[in-house]
Amino acid sequence: MKGALLRKIEQKEAVIGVFGLGYVGLPLLLRYSSLGYRVLGFDVDSFKVDALNKGMSYIEHISSVDIQSALSNRFQATTDFSKIPELDALIMCVPTPLNKHREPDLSFVTSTMDMIVPFLRKGQVVSLESTTYPGTTEEELMPRIENANFEVGEDIYLVYSPEREDPGNPNFETQQIPKICGGQTAACLEVGKALYGAAIERVVAVSSTKAAEMTKLLENIHRAVNIGLVNEMKIVADKMGIDIHEVIDAAATKPFGFTPYYPGPGLGGHCIPIDPFYLTWKAREYGLHTRFIELAGEVNTGMPEWVTNKLVDGLNEHGKPVKGSRILVLGIAYKKNVDDMRESPSVELMEILRSKGAIVEYSDPHVPVFPKLREHCFDLSSIELNEATVAEYDAVLLATDHQKFDYELIAKKSQLLIDTRGHYRSSSDNLIKA
Ligand SMILES: NC(=O)c1ccc[n+]([C@@H]2O[C@H](COP(=O)([O-])OP(=O)(O)OC[C@H]3O[C@@H](n4cnc5c(N)ncnc54)[C@H](O)[C@@H]3O)[C@@H](O)[C@H]2O)c1
Repeated sequence: MKGALLRKIEQKEAVIGVFGLGYVGLPLLLRYSSLGYRVLGFDVDSFKVDALNKGMSYIEHISSVDIQSALSNRFQATTDFSKIPELDALIMCVPTPLNKHREPDLSFVTSTMDMIVPFLRKGQVVSLESTTYPGTTEEELMPRIENANFEVGEDIYLVYSPEREDPGNPNFETQQIPKICGGQTAACLEVGKALYGAAIERVVAVSSTKAAEMTKLLENIHRAVNIGLVNEMKIVADKMGIDIHEVIDAAATKPFGFTPYYPGPGLGGHCIPIDPFYLTWKAREYGLHTRFIELAGEVNTGMPEWVTNKLVDGLNEHGKPVKGSRILVLGIAYKKNVDDMRESPSVELMEILRSKGAIVEYSDPHVPVFPKLREHCFDLSSIELNEATVAEYDAVLLATDHQKFDYELIAKKSQLLIDTRGHYRSSSDNLIKA
């Protein structure tokens, strides 16, 4: 069985199914399709399925042309899970958020698996890519497969291979980013390595699915903790009258032993604010506290409050109360040059300022209309930046430093400019670095 599957993968006759056609699933699917594999994309969101089948992308940095060429290469998107027997490989890229108690919400992973299991057939490989705590593949996926009377490692090959997508980063294509892979058995790993080795230049095998799950968490916790550290250093440097960005640039000239991380208005995105708490939750089962994670979380979640206090102080210097002041937030995507607003700290900044009575608007070339979010409601469209509009606001708050902004114009025309990204290096009367 394994030999036949490996042969199909090698000869590009394997049919690849990707479950969850979002920021992670869609580029992966396009990669396999561009190599000549027949690919089926599964999603529960019929809007996405319809858009893809019409050759339209709904993610800014993924071009519709690439979707159209996949369609001409037999790609099809579907909500119909009964097509699963046609597949040789099933790759799951569904969301893993936190619930309202900030605990792992695995419901997307488990419900996808529950929808898959009735259609599984012998000789398929199942891979989970969603970020999650160590033990998920073994404790949540394996029993579901076994309860359907399949033997993992004999009938079905089960692997975990985390995604390392960095949306909007033009320096790395999917195939250039080394891929971690752990198998539930040695045979599972062998199939996993073949599956990913066909599409990714370097596959890094680890000894278990748990080790692969933990690897992804270590990467993101490393970022969260170091960003927490540098955010704390920013507050200290600010009190001492030192520019933290000058210090980071200077420290980064050290050719060994130092990695630069940059402070900001708070954490954003689907990964860094969320993933570390998957480990925190799982560690409790072992009677352990993840103190670095908690501390970094505390520092990082305090940043929007710190930034708005700097803004309020700046307005005060100009003799203005925050209540009734007009404030323009620049950049509401969570990071530069993308349209993704998940967990964006800009929204938190807007909420805090609105709660203090400010009249808040925004400008973001990647987000023309403020989207409907579950917990936030702003009936706003992006303000076009020009000399007149910038000058109208009592304060301009640079939250996300998109390349498309005209920084010279912003600096020249803002009455008061708060820079949370270290974009402006020299000082000026209207500038506050936060
Ligand atoms: N976005 C990133 O940069 C990034 C990077 C690395 C890892 N990750 C991880 O990858 C996973 C996916 O993230 P994403 O950003 O692609 O999420 P996303 O929200 O962009 O996409 C997930 C997709 O899954 C679909 N979905 C939900 N339930 C489904 C089901 N039962 N069957 C089929 N489809 C279903 C949703 O409709 C959505 O289209 C998460 O675990 C995330 O933490 C994301």
